[in-house]
Amino acid sequence: MDTITPEPRPAWIAGRAEQGTATLDVHHPFDGSEVATVAVPEADQIERAVAAAVAVAPKLRRTPAHVRAAALDHTSQQLAARAEELAELITAENGKPLKWAEAEVRRAVNVFRIAAEEARRFSGDLQRLDTDTAGENRLAMVRRIPRGPVLGIAPFNFPLNLVAHKVAPALAVGAPIIVKPAPRTPLSALVLGEILAETDLPAGAFSVLPLGNEDTAKLVADPRLPVVSFTGSGPVGWSLAEAAPRKHVVLELGGNAAAVVLGDWPDLAGAAQRIATFGNYQAGQSCIAVQRVLVERSVADEFIPALAEAIGALRTGDPYDSTVDVGPVVDEAAAERIVAWVDEAVAAGAKLLAGGSRQGATVEPTLLTSVPADTKAWSEEIFGPVLAVSVVDDADEAFAAVNASAYGLQAGVFTRDVRLAFRASAELEVGGVIIGDVPSYRADQMPYGGVKGSGVGREGVLAAMHDLTEERVTVFAGIDL
Ligand code: SIN
Repeated sequence: MDTITPEPRPAWIAGRAEQGTATLDVHHPFDGSEVATVAVPEADQIERAVAAAVAVAPKLRRTPAHVRAAALDHTSQQLAARAEELAELITAENGKPLKWAEAEVRRAVNVFRIAAEEARRFSGDLQRLDTDTAGENRLAMVRRIPRGPVLGIAPFNFPLNLVAHKVAPALAVGAPIIVKPAPRTPLSALVLGEILAETDLPAGAFSVLPLGNEDTAKLVADPRLPVVSFTGSGPVGWSLAEAAPRKHVVLELGGNAAAVVLGDWPDLAGAAQRIATFGNYQAGQSCIAVQRVLVERSVADEFIPALAEAIGALRTGDPYDSTVDVGPVVDEAAAERIVAWVDEAVAAGAKLLAGGSRQGATVEPTLLTSVPADTKAWSEEIFGPVLAVSVVDDADEAFAAVNASAYGLQAGVFTRDVRLAFRASAELEVGGVIIGDVPSYRADQMPYGGVKGSGVGREGVLAAMHDLTEERVTVFAGIDL
């Protein structure tokens, strides 16, 4: 597909396509070729987007649920209709293999469909107050009111679906949203803007602004945008929260997700296959890609060779090739850093069983064992196709190792023992525990988010709808219950 357009791809200012005076070029991570030019909004366009979001907020909040739901359904249907084009754009801008780009589009289709369903249901609660004498003949209605216009800041690793997770819940609750895609990957978000512009949403309900850091920082500080929903790296996320202490800030940050393989798991080859796939999907650039593997000693001799074999079968190369499993990381600097972290682990005593080098921005799927816990490859988020395995004596040691992390997004536990599964659910310090599979499993309707360094707040359509709204209580006194 030719992704270059005669004019720069326009930004979406309060629902309208607009060019700017400045542009930014988007490059394909696999070979550095230019794939598109995008309009960068100027100060007055940014101001119009914010002013329109503020102006439309009361109207959008009162827009009937069926109108918002119809707009979300339309978006879902159009994403599906344009799936091939969108998947190719995602591969062009992000470099992930086409099969993963196609999966991402399918997920975004679901996110908007789920948001339409939730928009129709989202009603609040009734609470009886006659549980005490003082509350006799009283009833509370608890509604959820949008906190106000949302600033959504999205990362490069899921350029469409993590934008969808900002936009769909906001529109579902009737909150205007200004979305700032990652500068490296704005293309699919701009197509989303085009689709939203086909709906009956009022002007100002959405804007898509491909901005640089300086303009984004001004929006974060702007008191007219009381909600900031950020997905990206920890240092940036926490600095945004510090810069906007009075705002409602939702942070979806990184992790160094662990998969635990316990001795009772019957299909070690199957576990190895899943871990190899989800340590390397999108070249490891998912916050819940498997990074650490804790395997129980009783099965380690069978599991580790199976994992090495599954990793060896993964094909690297051109992400447009349908047989390729692992494409480039976002750029060569990232690849250099990943390899440097692997080298650091090896220098500290880790054993390298596979990979360890790179060609340009493509890092070979890498397997390390005996990785010291104080190396970056174990303790930080590597965001690359690298798996670090540690052998543990039992579930106690495995769970303690999962928790000995600055992060806590999701963990996977391969066990059939229901008591261990419940223990994992209770004891692991993470936002989500996946029993019988990798930590990378995410269904878009589930609450998703982390504890500790992995962030605050939850996404997942309904959870985000709660996060973007606040409770308003209305008490009815003197009524016949
Ligand atoms: C993330 O990288 O945080 C998102 C993972 C996903 O949506 O699958």
